[in-house]
Formats: sequence, C-alpha cells, structure tokens
Amino acid sequence: MLLLEKFLNKNVVLIIYIVVFCRTNAVNGDNDEFYHGKFPENFVWGAATASQRTKYLGCVYTQKGIGHVVNDETGDVACDSYHKYEEDVKLLKNLKVNHYRFSISWSRILPKGTLEVINKNGVVYYNNLINALMKEGITPIVTLYHWDLPQALQEGRMAQQFYQRSLRGVCAVKFWITLNEPYVVSYHGHEIGAMAPGIKGNGDKIYIAAHTLIKSHANAYRIYEREFKNKQNGIIGITLNVHWQVAKNPFSPADVKAADTATQFQYGWFAHPVFINGSSDFIGINFYTSGSTWLKVTPTAIRKMIKWTKDYLGPNVPIYITENGVSDRNGTLQDSHRIYYYNLYINEVLKAIRLGGCDVRGYMAWSLMDNFEWARGYSERFGLHYVDFNDPKRPRTPKKSVDFYSKLISNNGFVHNKSNGVLSQGLDKHHIVFLVLVILVNSVIMFSF
Ligand code: BGC
Repeated sequence: MLLLEKFLNKNVVLIIYIVVFCRTNAVNGDNDEFYHGKFPENFVWGAATASQRTKYLGCVYTQKGIGHVVNDETGDVACDSYHKYEEDVKLLKNLKVNHYRFSISWSRILPKGTLEVINKNGVVYYNNLINALMKEGITPIVTLYHWDLPQALQEGRMAQQFYQRSLRGVCAVKFWITLNEPYVVSYHGHEIGAMAPGIKGNGDKIYIAAHTLIKSHANAYRIYEREFKNKQNGIIGITLNVHWQVAKNPFSPADVKAADTATQFQYGWFAHPVFINGSSDFIGINFYTSGSTWLKVTPTAIRKMIKWTKDYLGPNVPIYITENGVSDRNGTLQDSHRIYYYNLYINEVLKAIRLGGCDVRGYMAWSLMDNFEWARGYSERFGLHYVDFNDPKRPRTPKKSVDFYSKLISNNGFVHNKSNGVLSQGLDKHHIVFLVLVILVNSVIMFSF
C-alpha cells in the first residue's frame, strides 16, 4: 500500500500528462502523426479539370479589353485539350488514375446557347474523349455545369429546359456531377461580381441565383433517377466548396457556434435542401485551404470537414473529394511543395476513413494540368503537368508531383517508410521516449528512498 502510494505520488505528473494527452486526442480526434495504411479497395483515384480552362471557345466575361482577367488573358485556346485529348488520356494513364473528372462546355455543343443549333463536332469531340478514356479503363466523371454557361442561358432563354435536355442526350457516362460550387456562382458571380457572369448585387441576386441553381440540380437529379438510373446503374450528385472555419477561441461556445454558422452559410445553404430531399447520391467536396493569396496549408482541416459532413449529413452519404490541390506562380517542374501538400492532405483523407470511420470513396487532384484559372488567368498554376501557354502546341511536361501521385495510387495508400518513424497511432516516438524516461526517473527516485 505504501509502495503504491509512493508510486502514485511520484508519478502524478506522468498520470496527469497521460490523462490530458488521451483526453485531447479523444475530444479533437486529432492525430498529427502520419498514418500508414491503405485506402479501401476500389477507391476512386482521379484528376480533375473543367472545360473553360482546358478547351474553351470564347467567353463574354473573360474577353480581351474588359479587364476581368489578370494580364488581360483569355481562355480562348487554354490548354487546347480539344485537339490534344488523346495525349491527355495518355497523361492520365501514366498518372495511373482510374477516373477523370471534366466538364462539358455547352457553348461548344450549343454555340447559340439554344437547342436549335447543335454543333456536331462538339458532340463528336466529347464522344471521342469518353471512348478514349474508357478504352484505357479510365472512368469519366462528367460535371454538367462548371461555371461556363452559354450566354443565351445567362440571359434567361430556355434556361429551365437546359439541364433536362442536356441530360437526355447522354451516353455511357455513369458518374455525374450536376453543379460545381453553386456557392461561388451565387456569391462571386451574382453578389460581388468577381467571377463570371460578374454581376454585382445588393444581397438579392445572390439568393435568386442560388435558388435557381438548387432547383436546376434537383431537376437534373430527378430526370436521371426516372430515366437513366436503373438502366445505367449510375450515380449523380452535387459538388460543393467549403472552407473549414475555426473558432477564434475554441473554449468559447459563442465562437464555436459562429464557426459552425459560417459553415452553414457556405455549405449547409446548398447541402441542406439537397440532402433533406434525397436528391444526391453522394456529396462532392472541393477543398482548398492552402501559393496564392487565398490559400493556406492546413491539412487537418480536410479531415475535420469530412467529419463535419458525416455528422451533418449522416454516415450513409458517400463522400468524394472532387477537388483538392495547391498552386504556385512559376509552374516549377520541381514542385516539392505540391508533393508536400498532397502527401499531407491525402493522408488526412486516409485518417478520416481509417480513424474516423468516414465513408470517403474517392479523391481527385486539382488539376491534371496548369490551366486557365478564371480571373487569375495563367498567372496561377495548379497542374500536375506544366503547360507552356506561349507555345501554340501547348506542350505538357510532367512535374515531379506526377511521380509522387502515381506511386501513391499504385500503392493505394501510404506504405510504411522507416524514415517517418511512426511507432503507433496515438503516440509517436518522442512521446514514447518521454514517457519511458519519466517512468525510469520516477522509479529510480522511488526505490532510492
Ligand atoms: C474551382 C476550380 C478552380 C479551383 C482553383 C475551385 O473552387 O472549382 O474551377 O480552378 O477552385 O482556383
């Protein structure tokens, strides 16, 4: 008894440390250690692009002389994927991805923005791309609307029938995303006017735009459900963007609530009506918190956001990370910063699955190649491949990150690498050495009296 008392007295610091350490971990679910392990079988590994950025034709918002885009650049040729799609499929194959997410440029298919004129070449192009992908075993994921809208639709002509008709024209694609980031279209496009269509509102247009987008999503979902789902056995969902909001003071309930409210305003605004009505087969998340003025690298945020999604939408909604990536301004081929970024972010996604029990089914890197970054033109580069926009042939060159990402995909996860020194999930090498030392010192002291 005396010995036990002595032991407890001498080890009081250690005991407090263990209790506090374990409690913090349990409360936050935090684990800053690198996690070695595999993703589930059949995990969707992808790379993403969007039409205007890779193969556009001419855009009202980004035309020359208007001053909407950095350096007055345009997306008229962009990466020229229209002519180079076969090469792009090879890049994807080499990257080892099993999925490719791209969007349809409706202006290419409906040059007048209405169904009266259909550009057959545009249809042939998309068919060719889809067939070339499938031939290589790469599943196409098609986004119906990634921010480029035929001008006639923007002006209100035939907008309602747009999605309905466009969906009916479809083919072998079995993985659909209706809208990309309706929040950005509503807020940046119809309130502050910083992105296409560049409308400045007074707190009114933003809500009209959001409402229209939500309804268009629902329409497209129901059509697919009625007419294609059983035949195709496919899935259709929506992609939302969200930033992880951190309470200024995590111990203040009001601040915690404020952070949650901010998430609701950005994410819940769209997720709530869509999921409460069961009109999405999955949730697609575009996650950026990281070169550019608007990005910061905070990898654990993606795991917290995934957990938030699971808690909010319920455990049965499959989650796909439909975009995640980091940019720079020089497009260096030695992009160690990008490797660093992907390594940590993708590891957090793995932790969300393995430690957090979240049903994440896929991850898509943004972007397959440098492209036309909207209002930032070609000044900002997110690509796994470098594109030389000064060369009319738009040559692509793999960056160092291609090697990293393709190895990660081949391993379907992170294989153990001794140099990382991970000993167990909860406690790392330093903690273990520290605890052993404390026990030793305490025991020596205890038995020397
Ligand atoms: C958009 C992409 C864009 C990326 C980086 C995302 O929010 O969906 O189209 O390229 O941000 O700017």
